Amino acid sequence: MCGIIGYIGSKRALPIVIKALERLEYRGYDSIGVLVYDQDKKIVYLEKQPGRIQEFVKTAQLDKEGNLAIGHTRWATHGGVTKANAHPHWDCANKIFVVHNGIIENFQVIKNSLVEKGHKFRSETDTEVIPHLIEEFLKRGLEYKEAVGQSLKIVKGSFALLIFNSDYPQLLVGARFSGPLILGVGDNEFIFASDPTPISLIAKNVIYLDDGEVVFVDKGGSEAKASYTIESFLGHEVAVKKGVIDFEIKEADKGDFPDFMIKEIFEEPLALGNTLRGRLILQEGRTKLGGLEMIEKKLRQIEKVVMVACGTASYAALVGEYFFEEYAEITTEVDLASEFRYRKPIINDKTLVVAISQSGETADTLAAVKEAKEKGALTIGVVNVVGSTIARTVDAGIYSHAGSEFAVASTKAFTTQIADLVLLMIFLARDYSEYDISGNSARYSEYDISGNSARYNPERKSKERKMSLVMGRRILEELNQIPKKMRVVFEDAEKIKALAEKYARCKNFLYLGRKYNFPVALEGALKLKEVSYIHAEACPAGEMKHGPIALIDENFPSLVLAPEDSVYEKTVSNIQEIKARKGKVIAVTTAGNQDLEKLVDDVIYIPKTLEMLTPLLSVIPLHLFAYYLAKKLGRDVDRPRNLAKSVTVE
Ligand code: G6P
Repeated sequence: MCGIIGYIGSKRALPIVIKALERLEYRGYDSIGVLVYDQDKKIVYLEKQPGRIQEFVKTAQLDKEGNLAIGHTRWATHGGVTKANAHPHWDCANKIFVVHNGIIENFQVIKNSLVEKGHKFRSETDTEVIPHLIEEFLKRGLEYKEAVGQSLKIVKGSFALLIFNSDYPQLLVGARFSGPLILGVGDNEFIFASDPTPISLIAKNVIYLDDGEVVFVDKGGSEAKASYTIESFLGHEVAVKKGVIDFEIKEADKGDFPDFMIKEIFEEPLALGNTLRGRLILQEGRTKLGGLEMIEKKLRQIEKVVMVACGTASYAALVGEYFFEEYAEITTEVDLASEFRYRKPIINDKTLVVAISQSGETADTLAAVKEAKEKGALTIGVVNVVGSTIARTVDAGIYSHAGSEFAVASTKAFTTQIADLVLLMIFLARDYSEYDISGNSARYSEYDISGNSARYNPERKSKERKMSLVMGRRILEELNQIPKKMRVVFEDAEKIKALAEKYARCKNFLYLGRKYNFPVALEGALKLKEVSYIHAEACPAGEMKHGPIALIDENFPSLVLAPEDSVYEKTVSNIQEIKARKGKVIAVTTAGNQDLEKLVDDVIYIPKTLEMLTPLLSVIPLHLFAYYLAKKLGRDVDRPRNLAKSVTVE
């Protein structure tokens, strides 16, 4: 989604801003624009156009001097993808320029009143009201900073924005309310950015802005040092939040891979290993989650877990819901963050709200966290991007440590989120009270490889959530083996590629799974439609006969997740139902199970593991299938049309 960049310092600003915009490309965008101010000639240069940065740098005039520049990648919300709607936007007098990420919800009312006062608008965007509003306040005699503050108070919605006024050419202004914006502080130079990715171009030290804060960066005179001041336009006290970004630039390389998406899929074992590193106490069947230690006491009192997330992260949450209830026996619900606060959820100080987000910036998930906090719930984040807004808003958290994810479609984040949730579940279940070193827990006396023996003991007191040492150890030992088992699945990558190519002409797909693999079916279908634009839908295999089966014919294939687990036989019955209607079936099953060979059209094998951990393996062929099929169709897999990586508007 929109990316914003601003540079002010002593270097040529434009090349830095262009490079920084390239680093934000992964967020998804459809237009690009830059402004540079040449202090010597006192001239503003502005270039903007729809399309990609690569075309922009070929066609736009980018040889301009100047030590101040702002840049923007637009992901259209208000108004089509046109040059007029690309940012920056400016006022009637051509002096005040703004780039914006977010939505100004009350823009129409403001626009109407400004039009009545004679302001002329050039675009259909919501953003354009901001420079005109500042201009209007200046006309009324306000000082520039006051005019900015008043305007920011009036606009409602979400925003991160940069403002440049050529009457104050030494100043660059950044402001945020529910939109991401950070300020990198270099040596006498500053860089604003939507996320940490471009910051390392000039700085390691960052300032995280909070909602309602506006920062004025002043370049100073020729002798003076550049400086910044932060104020609150909402009147709260400002406590400056500093941080350090030690982001590795080389992570942005594709290495030997043609696309980030396939690189990130192949990184899933490595990423998972990083998620687990230092967090497993295998001997004790426990997990060490440093980020949760300070809230441990409160965690012990929670009675219900609510997970909030969007997209792929919401499917990781659904997998978590199954094992939280089965193994930790805590009532668990999953809410799509976009629905959460509008349905008046019943939560209180005994509720743990777990926000799951790769970017840590998703507007709906952030809004859900704020809602939960207002209602007194304890909030924790399962977030990948360190220092992101959600990570800083929650009470405590567990980072995913998946490494940077650049492809718009999330892959390695999904598996690391599930792993984080396993660690959290064990943290809650095992550590709840004194555990039995002998492993002779009353609850889980036995288990088998399919994990179907999480036996419920009705006599146990409802609040005594205690998982046996044996069970805790078993799950963690098996989790620790998953990266190795994932690598076994990758040995079949070529076979999966051939399958994807075989089915590439199909216009529709149905993804089916039961229990732990129902969310995997959702993830597989989402991945396919995101990157190949082929229609795919998923449903629990048992639901198929309540509607989706009507779609099945020889041209409508089904991808069925059928590992040998507690629901295997039932899933096989569903496969039979599809075959009886001449539907083609690709099945994912457990290695060693030959039974499906005769029944289905194609089989993909995954290694045996605990039932609750199968999603970590069964999703790999689905990620590969979506990628290879999209490639076969010539799609831009890293930047699929209409999608954004970081969805910062509701
Ligand atoms: C966008 C991305 C998805 C992602 C979802 C949630 O839609 O394209 O890949 O799953 O946002 O993002 P988050 O960063 O909160 O995990």
